Amino acid sequence: MTETKWIKTNQVNIQTYRQGIEYGAQLLTQGELVAFPTETVYGLGGNAFDPKAAEKIYAAKGRPSDNPLIVHISYIDMLEEVVAEIPPVCRRLAFEFWPGPLTMILPKGDKIPLATTGGLETVAVRMPSHGVALDLIDAASLPVAAPSANLSGKPSPTRGDHVYQDMAGRIPLLLDGGPVDIGVESTIIDLTLPEPVILRPGKITYEEMKPFVPRLKPPRFVQADPDHHPKAPGMKYRHYAPEAQVVIVPSGSEGLDLLAREDDREQSYGVFSQQRWNQVKDYLPGENKFIFTPEDGYEYVAHRLFHIFRQCDKQGIKKIYIEELPEEGLAVALMNRIRKAAAR
Ligand code: TXA
Ligand code: MG
Repeated sequence: MTETKWIKTNQVNIQTYRQGIEYGAQLLTQGELVAFPTETVYGLGGNAFDPKAAEKIYAAKGRPSDNPLIVHISYIDMLEEVVAEIPPVCRRLAFEFWPGPLTMILPKGDKIPLATTGGLETVAVRMPSHGVALDLIDAASLPVAAPSANLSGKPSPTRGDHVYQDMAGRIPLLLDGGPVDIGVESTIIDLTLPEPVILRPGKITYEEMKPFVPRLKPPRFVQADPDHHPKAPGMKYRHYAPEAQVVIVPSGSEGLDLLAREDDREQSYGVFSQQRWNQVKDYLPGENKFIFTPEDGYEYVAHRLFHIFRQCDKQGIKKIYIEELPEEGLAVALMNRIRKAAAR
């Protein structure tokens, strides 16, 4: 049992902030783990060059050790220490989207051990845009291997207290930056193939990347051929699972049939657009709901989704009804996470 130090980096003065970053960097260089905020979700970081740190990450998460980690960097020169080569398409994407929620798969550099990549000869790398993440990686002067900081099978943490719930007693330090900005994990693009593919949709969409990656395969193609990429996230291990059963509610009267029966309304929760809510509200209780408007946008849903999953579990909610969103923009990533949560 390790005592977990919990530093609220957004609520301390600059001196305490610097001490927190320094302590985190010291832990990383000593092979220890540090949980930290990124703009997508919280990460559970260790020295990406150290196979023992990778083992500690798998142990803390309770995750199988063949699930590869994402390596986080804070400046572009660090990329050379992580990957074997930097293809022009990588430079173009980095110029356009880094720092930001885009992870690229590239051939692994010699300094990255197989423990970090789950035995693969490729490595996932990204430059996050959160100040605490960048300061921490800078201070450690090391690339930081980090999966999402949840226990295996739980939704990715989007607030410091989510991390604390899952990791207290398992890691020495949590740098808490408050709620994250985006709330769903980064887009992952595999650049090791002649025709790059998106392995996981995120905030950065196919349409945004396409101009910089002429041969990028459309997402539909990938979904039609899942066996082609056995290492794609979530295909081997179940992800994003709340205890509650997630029910996707399509539009129209067909969806109404799926809604709560009288006797389990109290234990249900609804995630709906205002327009759809007006049609379904008689079927669900008034209190347990999350309603969004077109002005709020899908950003608002992404920001809250994993928090809603965790809150529902705390409250013993049995069923979470979620409106089926049209697959465009950020809603592609949302529906990807919602479908995984709904799969049993
Ligand atoms: O937004 C994010 O990406 C967050 C923050 C912390 O950066 N991290 C994250 O990590 O979501 P994780 O471990 O929960 O998801 C990383 C996914 C894994 O599911 C893994 O399958 C995939 O990235 N991955 C990592 N390395 C890979 C590789 N070499 N080839 C294919 N997939 C890889
Ligand atoms: Mg994860």
